[in-house]
Amino acid sequence: MTELTHFYNLFQPEHYDVFIDINRASKQIKGTVQVSGLAKTTEIAVHQKYMQIASVQADGKDVAYAVDNAAEAIRITLPATGKTTLNIAYSAPLTDSMMGIYPSYYEVDGQKKQIIGTQFETTAARQAFPCVDEPEAKATFDLALKFDEHEGETVLANMPETRVENGVHYFDTTVRMSTYLVAFAFGELQGKETTTKSGVKIGVFGTKAHKANELDFALDIAKRSIEFYEDFYQTPYPLPHSWQLALPDFSAGAMENWGLVTYREAYLLLDPDNTALEMKQRVATVIAHELAHQWFGDLVTMKWWDNLWLNESFANMMEYVAIDAIEPDMNIWEVFQTSEAPAALQRDATDGVQSVHVQVENPAEIDSIFDSAIVYAKGARMLVMARALVGTDALRAGLKNYFAAHKYGNATGDDLWEALGDASGIDVGAIMNSWLEQPGYPVVTAAVKDGKLTLSQKQFFIGDGVDKDHQWQIPLAGNYAQTPQIMKDKTVVLGDYAQLRSENGKPFRLNVGNNSHFIVRYDQQLLDDILAHTDELNHIDQLQLLQDLRLLAEGRQISYASIVPLLKKFADSKAAVVNDALYVIIGKLKKFTTPDTESEKNLQQLANQLSAANVARLGWQPQAGESGDDQLTRPYVLSAALYAKNTDAEAQAHQLFTQNADKLGSLPADVRVFVLKNEVVNYGSAELFNKLLAESKQTADASFKADIAAALTGTKDPALIAELIKKFEDADTIKPQDLRAWFRGVLANSAGEQAAWDWIRNDWQWLEDTVGGDMEFTTYITVVASVFRTADRLAEFKAFFEPKVNVPGLGREITMDTKVITSRVELVEAEQAAVNAAVAEEVK
Ligand code: BES
Ligand code: ZN
Repeated sequence: MTELTHFYNLFQPEHYDVFIDINRASKQIKGTVQVSGLAKTTEIAVHQKYMQIASVQADGKDVAYAVDNAAEAIRITLPATGKTTLNIAYSAPLTDSMMGIYPSYYEVDGQKKQIIGTQFETTAARQAFPCVDEPEAKATFDLALKFDEHEGETVLANMPETRVENGVHYFDTTVRMSTYLVAFAFGELQGKETTTKSGVKIGVFGTKAHKANELDFALDIAKRSIEFYEDFYQTPYPLPHSWQLALPDFSAGAMENWGLVTYREAYLLLDPDNTALEMKQRVATVIAHELAHQWFGDLVTMKWWDNLWLNESFANMMEYVAIDAIEPDMNIWEVFQTSEAPAALQRDATDGVQSVHVQVENPAEIDSIFDSAIVYAKGARMLVMARALVGTDALRAGLKNYFAAHKYGNATGDDLWEALGDASGIDVGAIMNSWLEQPGYPVVTAAVKDGKLTLSQKQFFIGDGVDKDHQWQIPLAGNYAQTPQIMKDKTVVLGDYAQLRSENGKPFRLNVGNNSHFIVRYDQQLLDDILAHTDELNHIDQLQLLQDLRLLAEGRQISYASIVPLLKKFADSKAAVVNDALYVIIGKLKKFTTPDTESEKNLQQLANQLSAANVARLGWQPQAGESGDDQLTRPYVLSAALYAKNTDAEAQAHQLFTQNADKLGSLPADVRVFVLKNEVVNYGSAELFNKLLAESKQTADASFKADIAAALTGTKDPALIAELIKKFEDADTIKPQDLRAWFRGVLANSAGEQAAWDWIRNDWQWLEDTVGGDMEFTTYITVVASVFRTADRLAEFKAFFEPKVNVPGLGREITMDTKVITSRVELVEAEQAAVNAAVAEEVK
């Protein structure tokens, strides 16, 4: 393999004039690029992918060039080094890969339409125009667009349009920026606009398939997020506008293109009168995430993709900081505790996991390092830890200096630690590097040894792991004043336990607030003390207790059976976070049961008992004005009641269905998925199946669409399952962007597991051809690994995936997922009898 050189070392662009002529009918683009910059050598290269190159000139003269498709490059020989202007003419196809310049398909009143949009991160700008497609190669851009335009179309780009001449749309020169952030789109759009206090125009755009009020929530959140960041970062938003655009086909969740952020429809547009709070929280945090990037990512960009975490971890933390500030009633940090924390703790416990900061060179590998549980969730936890260490004031002061020092340029993690270190006087880098450069995290054991309270750290594994004697600098956050702030050593002795206990007057606890990335294993004496005082714990502490115990059980450090009797203590909690932790455990216990046997019946009965009081309290009809906790708790308990086959719950859901049969989309969004699923599973028919499938095609409400997917994939009818799987490759029914959810639904359904598994093995090539280019691809493997739990499936998994272990981007996922399934199979074999006995005992 050729050595990978960064092309920026050969040629440093300063300014691009890009002209692109797009023909939707023939799915072809033709373009010219004029780029001026500094040639450091005479043998330079610029990126291209899938292009036909018509001509290359340097300073007006034809020069020798060679297209090197393996390196995604045009290699150019210049007469001399120094300042050079290149002119390149090219043509390229428009593909349906959701990368580069691509069409999105949708229907309005039965009429098929399309919108053209772009997705360039990480390395697809080179599919739209030849460029040095590396984050460090920042330049200014003048964009001009021509297309087969018709009446009533809107064109959007990073910068405002300055003029239209002979059908060509010209846009204002951008600020200095990376190629992966260039964006444009056009089609029949609707939009709403407002202006921030500082005069930035904010807009939300989508297709005309949506009701106009679906744009309102996003417009409000976007405006207030920009206002929040201008204040928080003490750095103005540098562009005249911030557009948010929902695209019907989108491979990622959203993308922070500077001035023109693009989103999946589900993550931007929502019916303000009928959307679940959970979805509103999601949309708000996605918007806040992308807008955090407008500074952290766009204004200051990672130098190379190995520092991708710097972009993503930071934006992932800021989405919570911002939404907590502008929508305090959302209690958004609770979502951090129920989503990011467990995702990171679970994934990071498998040996072979990547570190947050990870080396990467090959373009084919870049997308595969976006392991969201690590780069997003763990990285965000690292930064939450850093923020707790330095405090908000130093964080803000440090950031302000960081932006001032690196704006319109690039930075690395060390530059951030330096800025935060200077602002706080704390050597943040030394502490953070122990977390960023090493994979995994520690379990801290707290034990009374010879009368002394003693702490020790050791890497925590779920499944087999090679202990490399890693050590972390752990912010302990103990509730006894005698606890050191940072644990640097393997072991610390806090002192005489009896004395400490009586002085402090409460059970000993670590990681109070659950903001550090470690779990705690208390010895029996300390655990019993905590369990005797659970009522004194706040909701996050209760969640943490359950989460840590569950992880310890997954890692075989305690028995799963020992957790079962504790669940009742938490069953009547009105806190959504506690219910989340509780029902996650019920979900994990399912792997020990066998369908249609006593073990399953007992677990169903336990779920019924645990949920009964909350089901009675909350009911099936959301009440106007009820608390966020009530709104978020209802789905957990209704789902538990339906899993338990509670006849009353089934009847109520069926009644709601019958009452709304002609307007299913208007069922209250909080309970809609359960009503639909109950109907499919317990009252299903081919007629209902077809009706729901048709509704799913026709509705523009992404939440409703997702509910239908969850319901239909639950069917127990083999004929309907086969029918559904036939639709997997029919993009008119199931868009490739939504397929993973459908696949997961069928695979996780015991009646569909075999069929879904057969499908993915038989049609792997189709899947690779369809979504192989984007970062979701590997997560299909993750989905399979999240379901399998038997030795037979493990063998089949290995037989199918092991031969693919050398495919770029797949290797780590396959290796890790083999471990994930292996450890689950072993856990089930070892503990099945004890767990089922413990559950039977509970429901006796
Ligand atoms: N920059 C990413 C999107 C991205 C990542 C595109 C890698 C291509 C390659 C964006 O800011 C992002 O993080 N999107 C998330 C949603 C976010 C709110 C967590 C996503 O797409 O999952
Ligand atoms: Zn991001």
